[in-house]
Amino acid sequence: QIEQQSHVQQIKTLLKQKNAVLVAHYYTDPEIQALAEETGGCISDSLEMARFGRDCDADTLIVAGVRFMGETAKILSPEKTVLMPTLEATCSLDLGCPIDKFSAFCDAHPDHTVVVYANTSAAVKARADWVVTSSIALEIVEHLDSLGEKIIWGPDRHLGAYIAKQTGADMLLWQGECIVHDEFSAKALNDMRHLHPDAGVLVHPESPASVVALADAVGSTTQLINAAKNLPNEKFIVATDRGIFYKMQHAAPNKILLEAPTGGNGATCKSCAHCPWMAMNGLQAILQSLTETSGHEIFVDDELREKALIPLNRMLDFSA
Ligand code: 13P
Ligand code: SF4
Repeated sequence: QIEQQSHVQQIKTLLKQKNAVLVAHYYTDPEIQALAEETGGCISDSLEMARFGRDCDADTLIVAGVRFMGETAKILSPEKTVLMPTLEATCSLDLGCPIDKFSAFCDAHPDHTVVVYANTSAAVKARADWVVTSSIALEIVEHLDSLGEKIIWGPDRHLGAYIAKQTGADMLLWQGECIVHDEFSAKALNDMRHLHPDAGVLVHPESPASVVALADAVGSTTQLINAAKNLPNEKFIVATDRGIFYKMQHAAPNKILLEAPTGGNGATCKSCAHCPWMAMNGLQAILQSLTETSGHEIFVDDELREKALIPLNRMLDFSA
């Protein structure tokens, strides 16, 4: 506790000295989110993290999240120094979508518009026509479908299937998944619903279709927080990373929030509703990124950056 306080004080001092801000995702641990809040940084979903990082006037961004979030920040703000608590924090969607294989998939369907989720490398974004996050994917695909475009979607197959079902768009899906959301179990969730019949069910669309089918609200992290605040239920079962409870409970202070069950049929969970890569963003690692810098800085190759900027800006302009 004393050590934690000392880290917090040192981080606050260094953030000021370096004109740096902390940009944190909702899945990071509560002390990181609290620190971002207290120091005038941002806690948000991946879309608003990108926008905040681009628009703030800091010289340095400390991105507490996973690597694609740091890369996105650098692509949008090449003039800023972008640091991450650890460069090891990756994402199973990014890992499961290597550029050579994905590019070959796109080359095999040249008449398709390539739409990629933000949870991808800079190289994959550079190969895409559009980047989307879960908060804007539905609207962008609806727009492309209305223009009669056929779509290649990567990498999350569950989110892709959900969007295809909602929009009726013609979509070829890359078969990636998020190791955290993929573990939510429809059977166990259904059993839990019977124990809490008054509870609303909130589901992130990276979850399997059978789990999404049980939802009262489906959406990005920000959209789920808003649903907890705005839906009339006093209790919710929440199928996403448990890091979200910090902000969700603030937004809906009188409501009861329950974690959705992972691993049905007695299977043990591996990530157990907390992303192992988001969990790498500790206070000590943030302090280290501010003191050592080297080994924490994000660089993106100039040519890739310029190419990846085009589909990223399309998303930001579309959602402005
Ligand atoms: P959001 O865009 O909803 O923040 O999701 C990012 C993510 O990594 C979810 O697992
Ligand atoms: Fe990637 Fe899933 Fe972790 Fe989000 S929760 S960063 S999608 S592995």
